[in-house]
Amino acid sequence: MTPTPQHHALVRLDGKDYHFPVMVGTENEKAIDIRTLRQETGYITFDEGLGDTGSCTSSITFIDGEAGILRYRGYPIEQLAEKSSFVEATYLVIYGDLPTVEQRKRFSQMLTKHARLHEGMTKFLGEFPSASHPMAVLSSGVNSLSAYYPYLATNNHQRDLEHFDEAAAIAISKVRTIAAHSYRVSRGLPLNYPRPDFGYCENFLHLMFSEPYNEFVPTPEVAQALNLFLLLHADHEQNCSTSTVRMVASSGANLFTSIAAGVNALWGPLHGGANMSVIEMLKSIHAEGDDGTKFIAAARSGIGEQRLMGFGHRVYKHYDPRAKIIKASFYKALASLRIKDDPLLNIAMKLEEVALRDDYFLSRKLYPNVDFYSGLIMRAVGIPENMFTVMFAIGRMPGWVAQWHEVAANPKLKLYRPRQIYQGSPVRDYVPIEQRG
Ligand code: CMC
Repeated sequence: MTPTPQHHALVRLDGKDYHFPVMVGTENEKAIDIRTLRQETGYITFDEGLGDTGSCTSSITFIDGEAGILRYRGYPIEQLAEKSSFVEATYLVIYGDLPTVEQRKRFSQMLTKHARLHEGMTKFLGEFPSASHPMAVLSSGVNSLSAYYPYLATNNHQRDLEHFDEAAAIAISKVRTIAAHSYRVSRGLPLNYPRPDFGYCENFLHLMFSEPYNEFVPTPEVAQALNLFLLLHADHEQNCSTSTVRMVASSGANLFTSIAAGVNALWGPLHGGANMSVIEMLKSIHAEGDDGTKFIAAARSGIGEQRLMGFGHRVYKHYDPRAKIIKASFYKALASLRIKDDPLLNIAMKLEEVALRDDYFLSRKLYPNVDFYSGLIMRAVGIPENMFTVMFAIGRMPGWVAQWHEVAANPKLKLYRPRQIYQGSPVRDYVPIEQRG
């Protein structure tokens, strides 16, 4: 995207006028190109949280938070959720187009080929203490791929791009095996091997739940619910973890190291950890005998800095479109999973009903986000709570891989290096230790 000469922004600083070009994206979103601001004026911009800052151009995902729009490579999320699958959406996000029959077949074969872990890696993962959080094991496991496949992780973007198809298939396929291993490790259970005859989601559930004496074969409904969950998380433009991936990649780092950084950024409760926090919140409301009313009152008055987890979003200022889809499919899944009465679900419904009528939430444009329902879906599917964020990581892997590729393939790549406003002590002289008070 090049700046359009007919648009510019006029900035007056210290009595002097400066003109900065305006950039316009495919969907008419506009940005003031301030790349020469400091050089020309001595000023920088200040935007803590980067909410009004465009850090890159990208062709992967489009979001309009006000209108509740999410598209992967131009395709509306609603159509993909109805007609596509996680594996197909993964191909789309990474390669830019829906696959042909031949491409789809080849891509699946690559995923099957790379599902198994190097034996050394299986041993290494098996050595983590059983108290480990699965996210800690996952990020270590993903990072270790650069040690097990050094020829794919040279930290020379040009060379790494030559093997991109293989590295991408390894990342997408092995993340699910590492994730399932992280769960088995946390339970002290023996690790399972993937089955070549299973699809992506079935294989993950088999890796998670099969026992040497009892093979787990998921029902189609369970596999479908998981498929939808993963597809809805495949990419979400410049969120915290994706920006982290791009930042690490901007130093020239290889794919595996960059996506491992994304896993770590996802772990926090304000990002990928929110789906787990939602269930913890619902459980604690239930344990206190509240139906959600008291909790809402506390969240709106900031008591104990309590937030209504699963509500609000940096970008969506109306219903998160993913939350709409997941809510609709949730009831279908519940029926097919024969789950009749989940008290946590009743509390969630009450919270949503009260919050959607409450001035506090309405005036701040706080609506349910995808995590409000995704935890409930995971619970219904039988995924343990400490694995919820891991599930998000599996789902987000295509986005991270695609975004790494965009950075690595950019001939004008610039190292990410924001500036700051220093607010510390002015210059002072070193005081020897015996003279300090
Ligand atoms: N409950 C109660 N109040 C809230 C909430 C909430 N969930 N979210 C924001 N607010 C209030 C906040 O206290 C502030 O109020 P005031 O203006 O009176 O100080 C106002 O709304 C604006 O909040 P903010 O923190 O400046 O908004 P943000 O855009 O930085 O926050 C957010 C976005 C997602 C971090 C936040 O809404 C939040 O913490 N939500 C709960 C955690 C959550 O569900 N996260 C998952 C996000 S979706 C998954 C993903 O894509 O990562």
